[in-house]
Amino acid sequence: MGAAPDQFEGFMIHDAKKWTEFKKEKARLNQYDVDIENECCGVCGSDVHTITGGWGDLATTPLCVGHEIIGKVLRVGSKVKSFKPGQRVGVGAQVQSCMRCRMCKSNNENYCPHMVDTYMAPYNEKGGNADLSMDDSQKPMKDSKGNQIFSQGGYSSHSRVHEQFVFPIPDNLPSEIVAPMMCAGLTVYSPLVRAGTGPGKKVAIVGIGGLGHFALIWAKALGAEVTAISHSPNKKEDALALGADHFVSSGDKNWAEPHAFEYDFVLNAADMTNEFDIAQYLSIININGEFHNVGLPDQPLPQFKAQVFASNGSKMGGSHIGSKKEALEMLQLASKIYEKGVKPKIETIDISEKGCSDAVQKVKTNKVRYRVTLTGFHKAFGTGKN
Ligand SMILES: NC(=O)c1ccc[n+]([C@@H]2O[C@H](COP(=O)([O-])OP(=O)(O)OC[C@H]3O[C@@H](n4cnc5c(N)ncnc54)[C@H](OP(=O)(O)O)[C@@H]3O)[C@@H](O)[C@H]2O)c1
Ligand SMILES: [Zn+2]
Ligand SMILES: [Zn+2]
Repeated sequence: MGAAPDQFEGFMIHDAKKWTEFKKEKARLNQYDVDIENECCGVCGSDVHTITGGWGDLATTPLCVGHEIIGKVLRVGSKVKSFKPGQRVGVGAQVQSCMRCRMCKSNNENYCPHMVDTYMAPYNEKGGNADLSMDDSQKPMKDSKGNQIFSQGGYSSHSRVHEQFVFPIPDNLPSEIVAPMMCAGLTVYSPLVRAGTGPGKKVAIVGIGGLGHFALIWAKALGAEVTAISHSPNKKEDALALGADHFVSSGDKNWAEPHAFEYDFVLNAADMTNEFDIAQYLSIININGEFHNVGLPDQPLPQFKAQVFASNGSKMGGSHIGSKKEALEMLQLASKIYEKGVKPKIETIDISEKGCSDAVQKVKTNKVRYRVTLTGFHKAFGTGKN
């Protein structure tokens, strides 16, 4: 068992205008409870929105992104019962919540108002310690100069995470394949199961990127009839191989017409919904069905008339990652179907200043098939060896 250092090393961004320039630097390790030696980390579309400043200014610099982390437990806090050193674990897009509110107590901790994102979020010193008063457990963590400490992500050597947000990983799943399930996989698994996806349901997945390609796999495994809707016709073969029964090319002008009233649930994992003709997407929904957004574009959704809901009684909603309960269910499903040869399509790039830069540019230009996992952490940091 090694000891976690007080500092971690990570590939950091200093300026949203220079979002392709990663610098390897030391920074303070600022999270607690389960210490993890990172082995690999997926590259999410959200990392790109963050470092480009698309979602707003960088709240702290230098900033280390990455929230699809697989690693090995180094040590655990005194109250942690469910993990032991040496165990392989994963961490997604959340590292803390209050652990006492209605949301936290109902397997909805991903909606806790005190949630802390894995990176660029103000970190609470004792957040998640439900033995303390709310005031004590929600105290901002400050450095010696009194500055707020922010969470830092997984393009780095180590992570420190509240145990609620650490997931045990089934033995048969390779690390580079399971890493992107921590955010991309869970973010689509949660709304699919909450919508009752299963036999007899027709589900359409819009945007076949990192999230969308997991959605095809899960929706098929859950027993639904699955349609991939993509503005990239060259993704057809892959979409069908991943589990889609049908492929619809949204680049074709009147693509929606033949599919009017067809789908019970449309899961939108595309990034550029601000450019969509929303009325077209709502027209393909079955009576009282839902258009569900997990994609979070930089720009607001386009305006559309309220009348579009009147034609089929459709609804529009959205969601944020998933709960630990759902993460554990998803991992069981992934483990089971992996034995039958069903697995995501993952590219690997060794982590380095250039590797991080190449990876985020590939995501930005829609060139990834279908998720990049940054690997080779042992070469960059000396961590993550088996
Ligand atoms: N809600 C949450 O909790 C949560 C969690 C993680 C990520 N996200 C968000 O989910 C979105 C997808 O993330 P990701 O990692 O899957 O990204 P990604 O791999 O880049 O996939 C995005 C997909 O959007 C589609 N797309 C791109 N440009 C488009 C355009 N101009 N018009 C129409 N479609 C376009 C593409 O699919 P096609 O080529 O098939 O059209 C692309 O593969 C991002 O906005 C991300 O921030 C949300
Ligand atoms: Zn993500
Ligand atoms: Zn809470």
